[in-house]
Parts: sequence; structure tokens; C-alpha cells
Amino acid sequence: MVSIPWSPSYPVVTPHLDLRPHRHDDLDDLVRYHSDPEVVRYIPWPVRTRAQVAEALAARVRQGIVGEEGEWLVLAVELREQRRVIGEVLLKYDSATDARGELGYAFASDVHGQGYATEAAGAMLRLAFGEFGLHRVIARLDARNGDSARLLTRLGFRQEAHFVRDEYFKGEWTDTLVFAMLAEEWEATHIPGPLSQPKL
Ligand SMILES: CC(C)(COP(=O)(O)OP(=O)(O)OC[C@H]1O[C@@H](n2cnc3c(N)ncnc32)[C@H](O)[C@@H]1OP(=O)(O)O)[C@@H](O)C(=O)NCCC(=O)NCCS
Repeated sequence: MVSIPWSPSYPVVTPHLDLRPHRHDDLDDLVRYHSDPEVVRYIPWPVRTRAQVAEALAARVRQGIVGEEGEWLVLAVELREQRRVIGEVLLKYDSATDARGELGYAFASDVHGQGYATEAAGAMLRLAFGEFGLHRVIARLDARNGDSARLLTRLGFRQEAHFVRDEYFKGEWTDTLVFAMLAEEWEATHIPGPLSQPKL
């Protein structure tokens, strides 16, 4: 049974990060990665101008709570040591009947390769399978997005599908991968508790 609304007590704390709803004063930090062609290459955003980022941020400010199927929880990921937003992690309330969510994430290029996306996505999965009561979480990605596939594998997802040239994306036909994880798979590999540590 999915527990609604999704309104965890903020910030959601991990060893290096605070996850929390976006604020209007996050604009400068968001501009850095929403306007970066490398970051948006495989995600359905344009390379945004500052005005377009302000518009996207205005929507995100209201996405710290989810009450209805189809809505996304969108949390800013703040690097505690530097007090700046380095990315975002998202969870869609995809189906009430099937207790299913969909995970998403995007991080600034200058913090890639340091484990922060793994840490933030792990915290979102702990909420998904714990407090929110989901049975299954999926992730959909462009098949060329090797960094994202490695992240999902590191978190314990399984690849379930490879759709061939199924999406016309940014001017070309592209392949889509679907990865998934069940609650029991998460529980078998992670210690319950506030920091979502993998079992060794
Ligand atoms: C997808 C994305 C979030 C992955 O980011 P990432 O930097 O690879 O992930 P992490 O921050 O968890 O870092 C993991 C990498 O750092 C390394 N690393 C270094 N220190 C680490 C630590 N303490 N813990 C874990 N990993 C660490 C890992 O080995 C891994 O490297 P590898 O992929 O070469 O094996 C990032 O590429 C991104 O934001 N892309 C743009 C947006 C996007 O495409 N989103 C996905 C849409 S489906």
C-alpha cells in the first residue's frame, strides 16, 4: 500500500548531502547545470537560458510534496560542505495500483565521478521502499547513457528491457533501456536506517 502524501521531513540527510525542496534562491546553482549541453544530452530538457531555468525552478519549488498519481517529487541535492545545489533527484508516483515509482536524476558536470549521484539516488530509494511503501521502482534511460546505466547497476537495479529505436529524441531515433528494482531486492542488499548503506 502506497503511503500518500509523500512529504518526508526535510532535509533528508546523507553523509555528504542534504536533499530538500527547491528554493527560489537556488537559481544560480541550477543555471550551471540546466544550461550545460553535456548534462542535458540524454534528458528531455533543452539547453536552458537563465529565464527558462527560472521557469523550471518555479515549478520545482512546489514539487517537494506528492499527493497524486502522475506527480513527481523533485528534490534539490545540496552539497553540505559547500552549501550549493549540485543536482536533483526525482521520483514519480507512477501507479497506485501497482505501487510503482520511476527514478530520475541530473547532476552538474563538475561533481560527476565522486559518488554523489549514487548517494542521493540511494536516499531516494530508501524513501521509496521505506516511508512511501513502493513495491517496484523503474528507471528509463537513453541506451547511450553509460554513466546512468552504471549508476543504476551500482544501486542494484536490473536491466529488464531494451527498446530499439522507439523514441524520436532531439532529432534522431534512439534506443531506450528500462531498469527496475523490487522492494525485496532493495531490502536484501541495504541496511534499514537513515543512511541507506549497502550491506557488505
Ligand atoms: C547519470 C549521472 C547522474 C551519473 O553520475 P556519476 O557521476 O557517474 O555518478 P556518481 O556521482 O554516483 O559517481 C559514480 C562514479 O564515481 C566513482 N566514484 C568515486 N568516488 C566514489 C564514491 N565515494 N562512491 C561511489 N562512487 C564513486 C565511481 O566509481 C563511478 O565511476 P564509474 O561510473 O566510472 O564507475 C550523471 O552522469 C549525470 O548527471 N548525467 C546527466 C543527466 C543524466 O543523463 N541523467 C540521467 C537520465 S536517465
